[in-house]
Parts: sequence; structure tokens; C-alpha cells
Amino acid sequence: MVLSMHGCGEKHRKEHKEMDYRELIKELDLTKLPRHVGIIMDGNGRWAKQHHRPRLLGHRAGVKATRLAVELADEVNIQVLTMFAFSTENWSRPQSEIDGLMKLLREFMHKEVIELNRKNVHLSILGSPDKVNPKLWKEIYETAAITSRNTGLKFNIAFNYGSRQEIVEGIKALYKAASVDRSLIQNLSPEKFSDYLYTTGLPDPDLIIRTSGESRLSNFMMWQAAYAEIIISPVLWPDFSKFEFVKVLLEYQKRNRRFGGI
Ligand code: FPP
Repeated sequence: MVLSMHGCGEKHRKEHKEMDYRELIKELDLTKLPRHVGIIMDGNGRWAKQHHRPRLLGHRAGVKATRLAVELADEVNIQVLTMFAFSTENWSRPQSEIDGLMKLLREFMHKEVIELNRKNVHLSILGSPDKVNPKLWKEIYETAAITSRNTGLKFNIAFNYGSRQEIVEGIKALYKAASVDRSLIQNLSPEKFSDYLYTTGLPDPDLIIRTSGESRLSNFMMWQAAYAEIIISPVLWPDFSKFEFVKVLLEYQKRNRRFGGI
């Protein structure tokens, strides 16, 4: 009896929260949405600590928040969503946490790909294969490729991603191409250099969200973020709901973007 009442309360609370974010969506100007949103998902470890759970459970709770963010981006028709799941600096974490994060990514890809495909989402991995188990890399690439013909939301998982690494790899690729065609260097412009980055063909992010109150880019899309609005949410990533996402989008819409003009 007590259990079922508790269950009922939970359900009611969830429905209420759902209603809240749908109400808030009505305040959005759907013609002024960011085309590309990047998210630095931070705070899983602190969330786990607050709940007296191991860090990996924080990351697992973070996966649920990731799913909600993708759903919301799809619901409001954002074109591109890039989420920072594992950085080139995260290799310095304890091996057990690294293994756990790899396992979560693998599970996420396998579990979500069918639903993402059904929603016409185009899933991609942005990052370097360097240090990643080649079998895992192949597996996540092949899983993402299932969605390659989809025309809806472009959802990028930045995995083993670091901006500096991305720029260095871009320079190496350009150097190789320029050994055949010297004019590539003479005619190089910032726009053309962008074609050598993982994000080739995508618009630059208009909005970068970082959760957990930290205000750093941490090597995330440093080239692409030149004119991005940066919004820091105090919420720890596992608690970042659709409601919080819409709140951030409303804040973004209040910003006056000048791109260096007046
Ligand atoms: C930062 O929190 C978060 C990460 C390093 C990993 C983010 C990963 C997930 C949300 C789960 C996996 C995602 C996918 C797409 C499968 P932190 O550990 O630095 O938190 P802390 O600063 O509170 O310790």
C-alpha cells in the first residue's frame, strides 16, 4: 500500500515536470534557436558524492540526462547537438573509471541506436582513435554509421575529443593535401581551415552549455566556439532535465549577439 502510494506520487511528480517543460517551451522563439548547441556535461562525480554512491553511478545517471537532452533538442528542432563525453585529458582518471566510461558509451550506442534511427537522428563520433581500444572504436563507428543517411538532428558524441588534438590533426591533414596542391596554403582562410576539423560541414556552435557551475571550456571546440554564447548552469549534469535545458535556451535568446560588430 505504502509502496503503491509512493509510486503514484512519483508518477504524478514526473507528469508535473513534463508539463512544466512543455509550458516553458511555449515561451521559446522557435525562429531564434541556436543552430548548434555544445554541452560540456560536468558534475557526475559530485552528484554521486552527494548521493553517497560510487562515481560510476554518477556517470550512469549522466547517461539518462544525455538521453533527455537529445530528446529535447529533437523536440524543439535544434539542428546540431554535440555532447562532450570523454576528453583527451580524461585518460588521467583511474583505470576503473576509464573502463566504466568506455562500457557506458558502448552500452549507450547499442541501446539508443534503434530509437535514434527511428527518430531520424544522425549520430556521429567526434574524436581521435588514439589510445582507444581499436575494437571499441570500430564498434562505435559502425554503430553510428547505421544512422548515416538520416536527415534529422545531428547528434555528435565528442569522445576522446580534445580541441588541440583536433587542430593538430587538421594541420597534419592540410600539410599532406598541400604537398600535392600548394595553392591550399596560399588560399587558406579560417573558413577553409574549418574543413580540416572533425566538425567539417557543421555550423559553429551558437551556444555552449557547461553544467555544475564550472566556467571553463576544457579543450572543447575552442576553434569553433569563437562566437558561441557560453551559459553556465549550476545544475549537476545528472539533474539537467528538459526543463533546465529550455531555461538555458530562453537565457540564450535574451543575449545580444554582435559578432564583433556594434
Ligand atoms: C564530467 O563529470 C563527466 C565526464 C567526464 C563524463 C561524461 C559522461 C557521461 C555523461 C556519461 C557517458 C555519456 C555517454 C554519451 C554515453 P565529472 O566526472 O568530471 O564530475 P565531477 O567534476 O563532479 O567529478
